[in-house]
Amino acid sequence: MSSGAPLEGRVALITGAARGQGRAHAVRLAHDGADIIAIDVCKSVSDTVTYPMPTPDDLAETVALVEQAGRKALAREVDIRDLAAQQDVVAAGMEQFGRLDIVVANAGILSWGRIWEMSEEQWDTVIDVNLNGTWRTIRAAVPAMIEAGNGGSIIVVSSSAGLKATPGNAHYAASKHGLVALTNALALEAGEFGIRVNSIHPYSINTPMIEPEAMAAIFAKHPTFLHSFAPMPLKPVAREGKPGLQEFMSVEEVADVVAWLAGDGSMTVSGSQIAVDRGVMKY
Ligand SMILES: NC(=O)c1ccc[n+]([C@@H]2O[C@H](COP(=O)([O-])OP(=O)(O)OC[C@H]3O[C@@H](n4cnc5c(N)ncnc54)[C@H](O)[C@@H]3O)[C@@H](O)[C@H]2O)c1
Repeated sequence: MSSGAPLEGRVALITGAARGQGRAHAVRLAHDGADIIAIDVCKSVSDTVTYPMPTPDDLAETVALVEQAGRKALAREVDIRDLAAQQDVVAAGMEQFGRLDIVVANAGILSWGRIWEMSEEQWDTVIDVNLNGTWRTIRAAVPAMIEAGNGGSIIVVSSSAGLKATPGNAHYAASKHGLVALTNALALEAGEFGIRVNSIHPYSINTPMIEPEAMAAIFAKHPTFLHSFAPMPLKPVAREGKPGLQEFMSVEEVADVVAWLAGDGSMTVSGSQIAVDRGVMKY
């Protein structure tokens, strides 16, 4: 019997699902009725990333939350730089669930430094995870979506740094700008299969990636960089059950946008860059 949940019967693959925004997307899409394929590397990817990475227990917690929402979860420790491992998990998901409708390509990393002072490893790791890894997610998922024949929605998690220059993390900005081209080319190529593709561009969300010490250090060394990290102009009013005025956006607020893009309310939207930034990019 239908529960009336907007994504009932659909299946979503979410990368970087052990914590932060990825976990929020998994939980939200499960509450909306989708079964979840959740992957995360769950360990350090490079010493050049200075904040702690999640553990297998974090991914297990995401699974528990999806199951509490009444949906099934298939979780694997997978590095998105590994195409074969992503193809394996997609195949396992197709076997278990029989379809793949939604991809939230969310996994990503961040580090700080000036362009001419970064090590090759620092530059290459960010490009390799954020841009090349996201291509590998799409490479693994799209054939299965086409085979399932139900169309679908792919949400690529870029950043405000994918639409404007940000000093202090040019490798990250380059990777996130690259995702815009990937999103829009894919929207043209996959459209004939009923697959929509959009990117979201969040600004500041309080997750472990936003490392206050690392940011304070780069702004102390290069104070002019601060101009590119303005406070957000929109100050939300408190609503019942919602926290109201916050310095950061919440992961749940981003998940609201992801849920809209995943569902049929955005059927006409493809090849779009959706700012999730409380208006800050208009400065
Ligand atoms: N936090 C922000 O303010 C902000 C703003 C704009 C965009 N973003 C983007 O949002 C996405 C989610 O970040 P978050 O804020 O939740 O940070 P986070 O560090 O909490 O989450 C990122 C997740 O991706 C996983 N991951 C990293 N590299 C991986 C790999 N190679 N393979 C598989 N999983 C990997 C991590 O283990 C982690 O669980 C990222 O793409 C990030 O660039 C974040």
